[in-house]
Amino acid sequence: MTWSDGYVTDLNYTFGYYPELNPAMLRLACLCHGVAMPGGDAPTYLELGFGQGISINVHAAGSEGTFWGTDFNPAHAAGARELAAASGAGIRLLEDSFEDLAARDDLPDFDIIALHGVWSWVSDANRRLIKDVIRRRLRPGGIAYISYNCLPGWAPIVPIRHLMAVYRDRGPRGAGVNGMISGAKAFVEEVARADTGSFRDSSLMRQHLEILGRQGPAYLAHEYLNADWHLESISDLVLSLDEAKLTYVGSARLLDGVDAIHLGDEGRKLVSRIDDAVMRETVRDHLVNRRFRADIFVKGARRLSGPERRDLWHDHAFVLSVPAVDVPKRIPCALGEAELHAERYDPVIEALAEDGYRAKTLGELLERPQLRDRRSQDLAEALTILVGAGLASPARPPSDAAMERCSRLNEHVLRRARVSMDLRHLASPVTGGGVPLAHVGQLFVLACREGGDRAEGLAEFVWRFLESVGERLTKDGRRLESKDDNLRELTASANRFLRFERPHLQGLRAI
Ligand SMILES: C[S@@+](CC[C@H](N)C(=O)[O-])C[C@H]1O[C@@H](n2cnc3c(N)ncnc32)[C@H](O)[C@@H]1O
Repeated sequence: MTWSDGYVTDLNYTFGYYPELNPAMLRLACLCHGVAMPGGDAPTYLELGFGQGISINVHAAGSEGTFWGTDFNPAHAAGARELAAASGAGIRLLEDSFEDLAARDDLPDFDIIALHGVWSWVSDANRRLIKDVIRRRLRPGGIAYISYNCLPGWAPIVPIRHLMAVYRDRGPRGAGVNGMISGAKAFVEEVARADTGSFRDSSLMRQHLEILGRQGPAYLAHEYLNADWHLESISDLVLSLDEAKLTYVGSARLLDGVDAIHLGDEGRKLVSRIDDAVMRETVRDHLVNRRFRADIFVKGARRLSGPERRDLWHDHAFVLSVPAVDVPKRIPCALGEAELHAERYDPVIEALAEDGYRAKTLGELLERPQLRDRRSQDLAEALTILVGAGLASPARPPSDAAMERCSRLNEHVLRRARVSMDLRHLASPVTGGGVPLAHVGQLFVLACREGGDRAEGLAEFVWRFLESVGERLTKDGRRLESKDDNLRELTASANRFLRFERPHLQGLRAI
Protein backbone atom coordinates (compact mmCIF):
# COMPACT_ATOMS: atom_id res chain seq x y z
CA MET A 1 0.00 0.00 0.00
CA THR A 2 1.15 3.57 -0.69
CA TRP A 3 0.36 6.56 1.51
CA SER A 4 -3.11 6.65 -0.07
CA ASP A 5 -4.24 3.34 1.47
CA GLY A 6 -6.28 2.46 -1.65
CA TYR A 7 -7.91 5.91 -1.76
CA VAL A 8 -8.08 7.44 -5.28
CA THR A 9 -5.59 10.31 -5.28
CA ASP A 10 -4.77 10.76 -8.99
CA LEU A 11 -7.89 12.88 -9.43
CA ASN A 12 -8.41 15.65 -6.91
CA TYR A 13 -11.83 15.97 -5.36
CA THR A 14 -14.55 18.44 -6.44
CA PHE A 15 -14.68 22.03 -5.14
CA GLY A 16 -17.90 21.49 -3.21
CA TYR A 17 -19.17 23.54 -0.31
CA TYR A 18 -21.29 21.86 2.38
CA PRO A 19 -23.44 24.16 4.57
CA GLU A 20 -24.18 21.35 7.06
CA LEU A 21 -20.56 21.68 8.26
CA ASN A 22 -21.04 25.32 9.23
CA PRO A 23 -20.72 25.55 13.05
CA ALA A 24 -23.79 27.81 13.08
CA MET A 25 -25.83 25.19 11.19
CA LEU A 26 -24.65 22.47 13.58
CA ARG A 27 -25.61 24.65 16.53
CA LEU A 28 -29.08 25.19 15.07
CA ALA A 29 -29.48 21.45 14.37
CA CYS A 30 -28.53 20.72 18.00
CA LEU A 31 -31.07 23.29 19.17
CA CYS A 32 -33.75 21.62 17.02
CA HIS A 33 -32.87 18.29 18.67
CA GLY A 34 -32.82 19.86 22.15
CA VAL A 35 -29.09 19.41 22.84
CA ALA A 36 -26.63 22.12 23.92
CA MET A 37 -23.50 22.60 21.85
CA PRO A 38 -20.33 23.67 23.68
CA GLY A 39 -17.89 26.32 22.53
CA GLY A 40 -20.38 29.18 22.43
CA ASP A 41 -19.94 31.33 19.33
CA ALA A 42 -16.25 30.45 19.02
CA PRO A 43 -15.87 26.65 18.99
CA THR A 44 -12.68 24.66 18.51
CA TYR A 45 -13.35 22.78 15.29
CA LEU A 46 -11.64 19.88 13.50
CA GLU A 47 -12.52 18.76 9.97
CA LEU A 48 -11.23 15.35 8.89
CA GLY A 49 -10.60 14.82 5.15
CA PHE A 50 -11.35 18.39 4.06
CA GLY A 51 -10.89 17.70 0.31
CA GLN A 52 -10.30 20.95 -1.59
CA GLY A 53 -10.95 22.72 1.72
CA ILE A 54 -13.69 25.06 0.50
CA SER A 55 -15.97 24.40 3.47
CA ILE A 56 -13.30 24.71 6.17
CA ASN A 57 -11.92 27.89 4.60
CA VAL A 58 -15.32 29.53 4.24
CA HIS A 59 -16.24 28.60 7.83
CA ALA A 60 -12.95 29.74 9.32
CA ALA A 61 -13.25 33.05 7.45
CA GLY A 62 -16.88 33.70 8.30
CA SER A 63 -17.09 32.34 11.87
CA GLU A 64 -15.28 32.87 15.14
CA GLY A 65 -13.37 29.97 16.65
CA THR A 66 -10.22 27.91 16.18
CA PHE A 67 -10.12 25.72 13.09
CA TRP A 68 -8.03 22.61 12.44
CA GLY A 69 -8.27 20.24 9.52
CA THR A 70 -6.39 17.41 7.88
CA ASP A 71 -6.29 15.76 4.47
CA PHE A 72 -3.49 13.43 3.44
CA ASN A 73 -3.66 14.38 -0.24
CA PRO A 74 -0.87 16.98 -0.60
CA ALA A 75 -2.59 18.61 -3.59
CA HIS A 76 -5.68 19.16 -1.41
CA ALA A 77 -3.61 20.49 1.49
CA ALA A 78 -1.73 22.87 -0.82
CA GLY A 79 -4.94 24.27 -2.39
CA ALA A 80 -6.64 24.65 0.99
CA ARG A 81 -3.59 26.45 2.42
CA GLU A 82 -3.63 28.88 -0.47
CA LEU A 83 -7.19 29.84 0.43
CA ALA A 84 -6.28 30.12 4.12
CA ALA A 85 -3.33 32.36 3.30
CA ALA A 86 -5.69 34.56 1.29
CA SER A 87 -8.22 34.98 4.13
CA GLY A 88 -5.61 35.15 6.91
CA ALA A 89 -7.86 32.90 9.01
CA GLY A 90 -4.93 31.11 10.69
CA ILE A 91 -6.37 27.61 10.18
CA ARG A 92 -4.12 24.69 11.12
CA LEU A 93 -4.36 22.76 7.85
CA LEU A 94 -2.41 19.52 8.18
CA GLU A 95 -1.38 17.05 5.53
CA ASP A 96 -1.63 14.18 8.02
CA SER A 97 -3.26 10.84 7.39
CA PHE A 98 -5.75 9.85 10.08
CA GLU A 99 -3.02 7.58 11.42
CA ASP A 100 -0.55 10.48 11.67
CA LEU A 101 -3.21 12.64 13.26
CA ALA A 102 -4.06 10.03 15.88
CA ALA A 103 -0.37 9.88 16.82
CA ARG A 104 0.03 13.67 17.33
CA ASP A 105 0.40 15.00 20.84
CA ASP A 106 -0.33 18.64 20.04
CA LEU A 107 -4.05 18.45 19.31
CA PRO A 108 -6.33 20.56 21.50
CA ASP A 109 -9.70 19.31 22.75
CA PHE A 110 -12.36 20.02 20.15
CA ASP A 111 -15.96 21.16 20.53
CA ILE A 112 -16.78 19.88 17.05
CA ILE A 113 -15.22 17.11 14.95
CA ALA A 114 -16.75 16.91 11.47
CA LEU A 115 -16.24 14.60 8.54
CA HIS A 116 -18.19 14.86 5.33
CA GLY A 117 -17.92 12.33 2.51
CA VAL A 118 -15.19 10.37 4.31
CA TRP A 119 -16.58 7.63 6.58
CA SER A 120 -17.94 5.33 3.85
CA TRP A 121 -14.89 5.64 1.60
CA VAL A 122 -12.05 4.68 3.95
CA SER A 123 -10.91 1.34 5.38
CA ASP A 124 -12.05 -0.25 8.65
CA ALA A 125 -8.63 0.59 10.08
CA ASN A 126 -9.15 4.27 9.22
CA ARG A 127 -12.65 4.27 10.70
CA ARG A 128 -11.10 2.90 13.90
CA LEU A 129 -8.49 5.69 13.85
CA ILE A 130 -11.22 8.31 13.38
CA LYS A 131 -13.12 6.87 16.33
CA ASP A 132 -9.94 6.94 18.35
CA VAL A 133 -9.37 10.65 17.58
CA ILE A 134 -12.99 11.39 18.51
CA ARG A 135 -12.77 9.36 21.72
CA ARG A 136 -9.60 11.10 22.86
CA ARG A 137 -9.93 14.62 21.46
CA LEU A 138 -13.63 15.47 21.48
CA ARG A 139 -14.37 17.44 24.62
CA PRO A 140 -17.18 16.19 26.90
CA GLY A 141 -20.38 17.73 25.54
CA GLY A 142 -18.72 18.11 22.12
CA ILE A 143 -20.40 16.98 18.92
CA ALA A 144 -19.33 14.85 15.97
CA TYR A 145 -20.83 15.26 12.51
CA ILE A 146 -20.56 12.23 10.23
CA SER A 147 -22.09 11.79 6.79
CA TYR A 148 -22.18 8.38 5.14
CA ASN A 149 -23.75 6.19 2.48
CA CYS A 150 -26.52 4.20 4.06
CA LEU A 151 -28.93 1.40 3.48
CA PRO A 152 -31.46 0.68 2.13
CA GLY A 153 -31.06 3.30 -0.65
CA TRP A 154 -27.66 2.12 -1.94
CA ALA A 155 -28.50 -1.60 -1.89
CA PRO A 156 -29.40 -1.87 -5.64
CA ILE A 157 -26.20 -0.07 -6.60
CA VAL A 158 -23.92 -2.61 -4.89
CA PRO A 159 -23.73 -4.87 -8.01
CA ILE A 160 -22.93 -1.89 -10.30
CA ARG A 161 -20.16 -0.74 -8.02
CA HIS A 162 -18.86 -4.29 -7.87
CA LEU A 163 -18.67 -4.50 -11.69
CA MET A 164 -16.70 -1.24 -11.73
CA ALA A 165 -14.35 -2.48 -9.01
CA VAL A 166 -13.72 -5.72 -10.93
CA TYR A 167 -12.86 -3.64 -14.01
CA ARG A 168 -10.54 -1.49 -11.87
CA ASP A 169 -8.72 -4.52 -10.46
CA ARG A 170 -8.75 -6.85 -13.48
CA GLY A 171 -9.43 -4.74 -16.57
CA PRO A 172 -6.84 -3.33 -19.01
CA ARG A 173 -4.02 -1.27 -17.50
CA GLY A 174 -2.11 1.77 -18.59
CA ALA A 175 -4.90 4.18 -19.60
CA GLY A 176 -4.43 6.44 -16.56
CA VAL A 177 -7.14 7.23 -14.04
CA ASN A 178 -9.40 8.98 -16.57
CA GLY A 179 -9.13 6.04 -18.97
CA MET A 180 -9.89 3.64 -16.13
CA ILE A 181 -13.02 5.59 -15.14
CA SER A 182 -14.42 5.84 -18.65
CA GLY A 183 -13.44 2.19 -19.27
CA ALA A 184 -15.23 1.06 -16.08
CA LYS A 185 -18.33 3.03 -17.06
CA ALA A 186 -18.33 1.60 -20.58
CA PHE A 187 -17.81 -1.89 -19.16
CA VAL A 188 -20.91 -1.62 -16.94
CA GLU A 189 -22.94 -0.27 -19.87
CA GLU A 190 -21.79 -3.12 -22.07
CA VAL A 191 -22.71 -5.70 -19.45
CA ALA A 192 -26.12 -4.05 -18.95
CA ARG A 193 -26.88 -4.09 -22.70
CA ALA A 194 -26.32 -7.84 -23.13
CA ASP A 195 -29.90 -8.77 -22.14
CA THR A 196 -28.52 -9.16 -18.64
CA GLY A 197 -30.66 -10.75 -15.92
CA SER A 198 -29.49 -8.53 -13.05
CA PHE A 199 -30.32 -5.32 -14.93
CA ARG A 200 -33.51 -6.75 -16.46
CA ASP A 201 -34.86 -7.73 -13.04
CA SER A 202 -33.98 -4.48 -11.29
CA SER A 203 -35.46 -1.22 -12.53
CA LEU A 204 -33.41 0.59 -9.87
CA MET A 205 -30.18 -0.76 -11.37
CA ARG A 206 -31.27 0.43 -14.82
CA GLN A 207 -32.21 3.84 -13.44
CA HIS A 208 -28.88 4.13 -11.70
CA LEU A 209 -27.01 3.32 -14.87
CA GLU A 210 -28.55 6.39 -16.46
CA ILE A 211 -27.54 8.57 -13.51
CA LEU A 212 -24.00 7.19 -13.75
CA GLY A 213 -23.81 8.38 -17.35
CA ARG A 214 -24.31 11.99 -16.20
CA GLN A 215 -21.70 12.00 -13.41
CA GLY A 216 -18.24 13.56 -13.77
CA PRO A 217 -14.96 11.64 -13.41
CA ALA A 218 -13.89 13.19 -10.07
CA TYR A 219 -17.12 12.12 -8.37
CA LEU A 220 -17.13 8.70 -10.05
CA ALA A 221 -13.56 8.00 -8.98
CA HIS A 222 -14.26 8.78 -5.33
CA GLU A 223 -17.64 7.06 -5.15
CA TYR A 224 -17.01 3.93 -7.19
CA LEU A 225 -13.32 3.26 -7.59
CA ASN A 226 -11.87 3.65 -4.11
CA ALA A 227 -10.63 0.41 -2.60
CA ASP A 228 -13.10 0.96 0.27
CA TRP A 229 -16.82 1.51 0.13
CA HIS A 230 -18.76 0.85 3.24
CA LEU A 231 -22.54 0.96 3.56
CA GLU A 232 -23.96 1.30 7.02
CA SER A 233 -27.37 1.53 8.63
CA ILE A 234 -27.84 4.17 11.26
CA SER A 235 -28.40 1.53 13.97
CA ASP A 236 -24.99 -0.05 13.20
CA LEU A 237 -23.25 3.32 13.21
CA VAL A 238 -24.82 4.18 16.56
CA LEU A 239 -23.48 0.90 18.02
CA SER A 240 -20.06 1.43 16.51
CA LEU A 241 -19.71 5.00 17.81
CA ASP A 242 -20.62 3.91 21.31
CA GLU A 243 -16.92 2.91 21.55
CA ALA A 244 -16.04 6.59 21.18
CA LYS A 245 -18.60 7.41 23.93
CA LEU A 246 -20.92 9.04 21.43
CA THR A 247 -24.69 9.06 21.58
CA TYR A 248 -27.04 9.92 18.75
CA VAL A 249 -28.49 13.45 18.60
CA GLY A 250 -30.31 13.55 15.27
CA SER A 251 -29.94 14.36 11.60
CA ALA A 252 -27.90 17.42 10.62
CA ARG A 253 -30.30 17.91 7.71
CA LEU A 254 -33.17 19.80 9.22
CA LEU A 255 -35.76 18.59 6.72
CA ASP A 256 -35.08 14.91 7.41
CA GLY A 257 -37.22 14.91 10.55
CA VAL A 258 -40.12 16.87 9.02
CA ASP A 259 -42.44 13.93 8.40
CA ALA A 260 -45.22 16.19 7.13
CA ILE A 261 -43.28 16.85 3.93
CA HIS A 262 -41.59 13.49 3.34
CA LEU A 263 -44.10 10.85 4.43
CA GLY A 264 -47.59 9.83 3.45
CA ASP A 265 -50.35 9.26 6.05
CA GLU A 266 -49.45 5.62 6.70
CA GLY A 267 -45.77 6.42 7.13
CA ARG A 268 -46.48 9.29 9.49
CA LYS A 269 -48.73 7.11 11.63
CA LEU A 270 -46.11 4.39 11.76
CA VAL A 271 -43.29 6.77 12.74
CA SER A 272 -45.40 8.53 15.37
CA ARG A 273 -45.86 5.22 17.22
CA ILE A 274 -42.10 4.65 17.61
CA ASP A 275 -40.49 6.06 20.76
CA ASP A 276 -36.87 5.06 20.16
CA ALA A 277 -35.03 7.70 18.09
CA VAL A 278 -32.75 5.24 16.25
CA MET A 279 -35.58 2.86 15.45
CA ARG A 280 -37.62 5.84 14.20
CA GLU A 281 -34.77 6.93 11.93
CA THR A 282 -34.36 3.37 10.64
CA VAL A 283 -38.00 3.23 9.68
CA ARG A 284 -37.82 6.71 8.09
CA ASP A 285 -34.81 5.53 6.03
CA HIS A 286 -36.94 2.68 4.68
CA LEU A 287 -39.98 4.88 4.08
CA VAL A 288 -37.96 7.27 1.90
CA ASN A 289 -35.43 4.65 0.68
CA ARG A 290 -32.60 6.88 1.90
CA ARG A 291 -29.08 6.39 0.59
CA PHE A 292 -27.15 9.15 2.36
CA ARG A 293 -27.27 10.38 5.92
CA ALA A 294 -25.61 13.24 7.78
CA ASP A 295 -25.87 12.67 11.53
CA ILE A 296 -24.86 14.46 14.69
CA PHE A 297 -23.57 12.61 17.76
CA VAL A 298 -22.64 14.00 21.16
CA LYS A 299 -20.15 12.94 23.79
CA GLY A 300 -22.37 13.28 26.84
CA ALA A 301 -25.49 15.22 25.95
CA ARG A 302 -26.62 18.17 27.97
CA ARG A 303 -30.32 18.33 27.19
CA LEU A 304 -31.80 21.81 26.92
CA SER A 305 -34.75 22.53 29.18
CA GLY A 306 -38.01 23.83 27.65
CA PRO A 307 -37.39 27.45 28.78
CA GLU A 308 -33.77 27.29 27.56
CA ARG A 309 -34.93 26.17 24.13
CA ARG A 310 -37.58 28.88 24.03
CA ASP A 311 -35.02 31.60 24.92
CA LEU A 312 -32.42 30.32 22.45
CA TRP A 313 -35.01 30.30 19.65
CA HIS A 314 -36.23 33.77 20.57
CA ASP A 315 -32.72 35.24 20.29
CA HIS A 316 -31.68 33.22 17.25
CA ALA A 317 -31.15 35.32 14.10
CA PHE A 318 -31.89 34.25 10.52
CA VAL A 319 -31.28 35.59 7.06
CA LEU A 320 -32.44 34.56 3.60
CA SER A 321 -29.73 32.59 1.84
CA VAL A 322 -31.14 33.29 -1.64
CA PRO A 323 -32.69 36.46 -3.09
CA ALA A 324 -36.38 36.65 -2.11
CA VAL A 325 -37.50 36.21 -5.75
CA ASP A 326 -35.63 32.91 -5.90
CA VAL A 327 -37.52 31.31 -3.01
CA PRO A 328 -39.55 28.65 -4.83
CA LYS A 329 -43.19 27.85 -4.16
CA ARG A 330 -42.38 24.15 -3.93
CA ILE A 331 -39.38 22.30 -2.51
CA PRO A 332 -38.13 18.80 -3.34
CA CYS A 333 -39.05 16.10 -0.85
CA ALA A 334 -39.22 12.32 -0.68
CA LEU A 335 -42.74 12.36 -2.13
CA GLY A 336 -41.74 14.59 -5.04
CA GLU A 337 -42.46 18.19 -4.11
CA ALA A 338 -43.93 19.90 -1.06
CA GLU A 339 -45.69 23.23 -1.29
CA LEU A 340 -44.46 26.23 0.68
CA HIS A 341 -47.94 27.62 1.29
CA ALA A 342 -48.02 31.35 0.50
CA GLU A 343 -50.03 32.34 3.57
CA ARG A 344 -47.51 30.63 5.85
CA TYR A 345 -44.20 31.43 4.11
CA ASP A 346 -44.61 34.65 2.10
CA PRO A 347 -44.83 36.94 5.17
CA VAL A 348 -41.71 35.28 6.64
CA ILE A 349 -39.79 35.71 3.38
CA GLU A 350 -40.96 39.29 3.04
CA ALA A 351 -39.91 40.15 6.61
CA LEU A 352 -36.49 38.50 6.15
CA ALA A 353 -35.93 40.47 2.94
CA GLU A 354 -36.79 43.82 4.54
CA ASP A 355 -34.08 46.39 5.38
CA GLY A 356 -31.75 45.09 2.68
CA TYR A 357 -31.81 41.47 3.95
CA ARG A 358 -30.59 42.47 7.41
CA ALA A 359 -30.51 39.41 9.73
CA LYS A 360 -33.37 39.34 12.24
CA THR A 361 -33.98 37.34 15.40
CA LEU A 362 -37.09 35.27 15.78
CA GLY A 363 -38.17 37.68 18.55
CA GLU A 364 -37.77 40.62 16.16
CA LEU A 365 -39.63 38.81 13.36
CA LEU A 366 -42.56 38.20 15.71
CA GLU A 367 -42.91 41.95 16.11
CA ARG A 368 -43.13 42.65 12.37
CA PRO A 369 -46.70 43.60 11.36
CA GLN A 370 -47.05 40.66 8.95
CA LEU A 371 -46.01 38.11 11.63
CA ARG A 372 -47.55 39.58 14.77
CA ASP A 373 -50.29 36.97 14.94
CA ARG A 374 -47.88 34.02 14.67
CA ARG A 375 -47.09 31.72 17.54
CA SER A 376 -43.38 31.56 18.23
CA GLN A 377 -43.37 27.78 17.69
CA ASP A 378 -45.03 28.07 14.27
CA LEU A 379 -42.52 30.66 13.14
CA ALA A 380 -39.65 28.48 14.42
CA GLU A 381 -41.04 25.58 12.40
CA ALA A 382 -41.35 27.66 9.23
CA LEU A 383 -37.77 28.92 9.68
CA THR A 384 -36.52 25.37 10.25
CA ILE A 385 -38.08 24.32 6.95
CA LEU A 386 -36.61 27.31 5.10
CA VAL A 387 -33.15 26.58 6.55
CA GLY A 388 -33.50 22.85 5.83
CA ALA A 389 -34.39 23.64 2.22
CA GLY A 390 -31.30 25.86 1.88
CA LEU A 391 -33.40 29.03 1.55
CA ALA A 392 -32.47 30.64 4.88
CA SER A 393 -29.48 30.42 7.23
CA PRO A 394 -28.69 31.02 10.85
CA ALA A 395 -27.04 34.42 11.23
CA ARG A 396 -25.38 36.76 13.71
CA PRO A 397 -23.93 40.26 13.76
CA PRO A 398 -20.59 40.00 11.92
CA SER A 399 -17.40 40.90 13.80
CA ASP A 400 -14.90 43.26 12.17
CA ALA A 401 -12.38 40.40 12.04
CA ALA A 402 -14.80 38.07 10.21
CA MET A 403 -15.67 40.88 7.78
CA GLU A 404 -11.98 41.36 7.04
CA ARG A 405 -11.28 37.61 6.56
CA CYS A 406 -14.30 37.15 4.28
CA SER A 407 -13.43 40.19 2.24
CA ARG A 408 -9.87 38.87 1.70
CA LEU A 409 -11.07 35.37 0.83
CA ASN A 410 -13.74 36.71 -1.53
CA GLU A 411 -11.17 38.97 -3.19
CA HIS A 412 -9.10 35.85 -3.90
CA VAL A 413 -12.15 33.99 -5.30
CA LEU A 414 -12.94 36.92 -7.61
CA ARG A 415 -9.33 37.15 -8.77
CA ARG A 416 -9.43 33.42 -9.56
CA ALA A 417 -12.56 33.99 -11.67
CA ARG A 418 -10.34 35.55 -14.34
CA VAL A 419 -8.41 32.30 -14.77
CA SER A 420 -10.59 29.45 -13.51
CA MET A 421 -14.20 28.44 -12.89
CA ASP A 422 -13.39 26.19 -9.91
CA LEU A 423 -14.54 28.35 -7.02
CA ARG A 424 -18.27 28.86 -6.85
CA HIS A 425 -18.84 30.32 -3.38
CA LEU A 426 -18.14 33.52 -1.52
CA ALA A 427 -17.96 33.66 2.28
CA SER A 428 -20.48 35.61 4.35
CA PRO A 429 -19.54 36.98 7.79
CA VAL A 430 -23.29 37.17 8.54
CA THR A 431 -24.03 33.45 8.11
CA GLY A 432 -20.48 32.26 8.76
CA GLY A 433 -21.05 30.15 5.65
CA GLY A 434 -20.81 30.10 1.88
CA VAL A 435 -22.96 31.95 -0.64
CA PRO A 436 -23.19 30.31 -4.06
CA LEU A 437 -22.18 32.61 -6.89
CA ALA A 438 -21.80 31.24 -10.41
CA HIS A 439 -18.82 32.22 -12.52
CA VAL A 440 -20.77 34.77 -14.57
CA GLY A 441 -22.01 36.34 -11.32
CA GLN A 442 -18.41 36.62 -10.12
CA LEU A 443 -17.51 38.40 -13.36
CA PHE A 444 -20.47 40.76 -12.86
CA VAL A 445 -19.10 41.67 -9.42
CA LEU A 446 -15.74 42.45 -11.05
CA ALA A 447 -17.49 44.53 -13.71
CA CYS A 448 -19.32 46.54 -11.02
CA ARG A 449 -15.95 47.22 -9.39
CA GLU A 450 -14.75 48.78 -12.61
CA GLY A 451 -17.51 51.34 -12.39
CA GLY A 452 -20.18 49.41 -14.27
CA ASP A 453 -23.69 49.93 -12.96
CA ARG A 454 -25.66 49.34 -16.15
CA ALA A 455 -26.61 45.89 -17.38
CA GLU A 456 -25.21 46.61 -20.84
CA GLY A 457 -21.83 47.56 -19.36
CA LEU A 458 -21.71 44.38 -17.24
CA ALA A 459 -22.67 42.28 -20.27
CA GLU A 460 -19.98 43.91 -22.40
CA PHE A 461 -17.36 43.25 -19.67
CA VAL A 462 -18.23 39.53 -19.51
CA TRP A 463 -18.39 39.27 -23.31
CA ARG A 464 -14.85 40.66 -23.58
CA PHE A 465 -13.74 38.08 -21.03
CA LEU A 466 -15.46 35.21 -22.88
CA GLU A 467 -13.93 36.30 -26.14
CA SER A 468 -10.44 36.53 -24.63
CA VAL A 469 -10.62 32.89 -23.48
CA GLY A 470 -12.46 31.61 -26.57
CA GLU A 471 -15.59 30.72 -24.56
CA ARG A 472 -19.25 31.26 -25.37
CA LEU A 473 -22.49 30.96 -23.39
CA THR A 474 -24.67 27.93 -23.91
CA LYS A 475 -28.45 28.02 -24.00
CA ASP A 476 -30.63 24.89 -23.89
CA GLY A 477 -27.49 22.82 -24.45
CA ARG A 478 -26.54 24.86 -27.58
CA ARG A 479 -23.41 27.01 -27.80
CA LEU A 480 -24.29 30.62 -28.69
CA GLU A 481 -21.74 31.66 -31.29
CA SER A 482 -22.61 35.24 -32.28
CA LYS A 483 -21.71 38.28 -30.23
CA ASP A 484 -25.32 39.53 -30.38
CA ASP A 485 -26.75 36.30 -28.99
CA ASN A 486 -24.19 36.27 -26.18
CA LEU A 487 -24.78 39.92 -25.33
CA ARG A 488 -28.57 39.46 -25.29
CA GLU A 489 -28.31 36.61 -22.75
CA LEU A 490 -25.67 38.40 -20.70
CA THR A 491 -27.71 41.61 -20.54
CA ALA A 492 -30.75 39.70 -19.26
CA SER A 493 -28.58 37.99 -16.60
CA ALA A 494 -26.93 41.30 -15.68
CA ASN A 495 -30.32 42.96 -15.17
CA ARG A 496 -31.29 40.15 -12.87
CA PHE A 497 -27.98 40.35 -11.05
CA LEU A 498 -28.27 44.11 -10.46
CA ARG A 499 -31.89 43.93 -9.38
CA PHE A 500 -31.93 40.83 -7.19
CA GLU A 501 -28.58 39.11 -6.61
CA ARG A 502 -26.39 42.08 -5.84
CA PRO A 503 -28.62 43.48 -3.04
CA HIS A 504 -28.76 40.01 -1.52
CA LEU A 505 -24.96 39.55 -1.65
CA GLN A 506 -24.60 43.00 -0.10
CA GLY A 507 -27.06 42.07 2.68
CA LEU A 508 -24.92 39.02 3.47
CA ARG A 509 -21.84 41.28 3.39
CA ALA A 510 -20.27 38.96 0.82
CA ILE A 511 -19.52 41.89 -1.50
C1 LIG B 1 -14.74 12.23 -0.80
S1 LIG B 1 -13.53 13.34 -0.26
C2 LIG B 1 -14.50 14.49 0.67
C3 LIG B 1 -13.81 15.79 0.82
C4 LIG B 1 -14.57 16.86 1.57
N1 LIG B 1 -14.84 16.47 2.95
C5 LIG B 1 -15.81 17.19 0.82
O1 LIG B 1 -16.87 16.70 1.22
O2 LIG B 1 -15.73 17.93 -0.16
C6 LIG B 1 -12.63 12.46 1.04
C7 LIG B 1 -11.36 13.15 1.45
O3 LIG B 1 -10.74 12.40 2.51
C8 LIG B 1 -9.33 12.36 2.30
N2 LIG B 1 -8.83 11.13 2.93
C9 LIG B 1 -9.15 9.86 2.59
N3 LIG B 1 -8.49 8.98 3.37
C10 LIG B 1 -7.74 9.71 4.24
C11 LIG B 1 -6.84 9.37 5.29
N4 LIG B 1 -6.59 8.11 5.60
N5 LIG B 1 -6.25 10.38 5.97
C12 LIG B 1 -6.51 11.68 5.65
N6 LIG B 1 -7.34 12.05 4.66
C13 LIG B 1 -7.97 11.09 3.96
C14 LIG B 1 -9.19 12.36 0.80
O4 LIG B 1 -7.93 12.86 0.36
C15 LIG B 1 -10.34 13.24 0.34
O5 LIG B 1 -9.96 14.58 0.20
